[in-house]
Amino acid sequence: MQKWMLVAAAVAVLVVGGRSMVNAVEDKVPSIEEIMKKVNKGPKSLHQVMTKQLKGDAPVWEDLAKMSKEYAALCGALGSNKCEVGEAKSWEKLCKEYAAEAKALDAAVAKMDKTASLAAIGKLNKTCEGCHDAHR
Ligand code: HEC
Repeated sequence: MQKWMLVAAAVAVLVVGGRSMVNAVEDKVPSIEEIMKKVNKGPKSLHQVMTKQLKGDAPVWEDLAKMSKEYAALCGALGSNKCEVGEAKSWEKLCKEYAAEAKALDAAVAKMDKTASLAAIGKLNKTCEGCHDAHR
């Protein structure tokens, strides 16, 4: 085989392999724990970073928009997980409500509306306990 063919074959393997790896990552639903860690746990979580920025004097809307997109996507994926604790119907309902609030946050941030964004954060703050009591 000529050298360029070997190189082409190697590139083809890389491209195909790379693509299937990307698909595997995209297809995988993040676990409940992964979602909670990214969205809610600790000062670097999306929820806390966003809350701090929105309460401050100079929210950076561009950054907030990126965060709220991820926030909404992660909360939207929560209900694709089965929860081992509590009733499936209740889990489904709470996940839907939670995802809807996260979407409302994303919409408010997209409009650069500080009042509406903080209202959405406030509503999200009220979801934690109910879901944890029933499903954690
Ligand atoms: C719709 C349900 C639901 C909502 C709403 C929810 N959580 Fe959770 N959360 C869970 C479940 C279930 C677990 C347990 C996950 C596990 O460990 O498997 C959890 C775990 C956590 C953890 C522990 C993560 C870890 O393993 O280190 C934190 C922190 C947390 N939630 C914070 C919050 C905060 C803060 C809010 C509200 C702003 C919130 N959660 C809203 C369902 C929810």
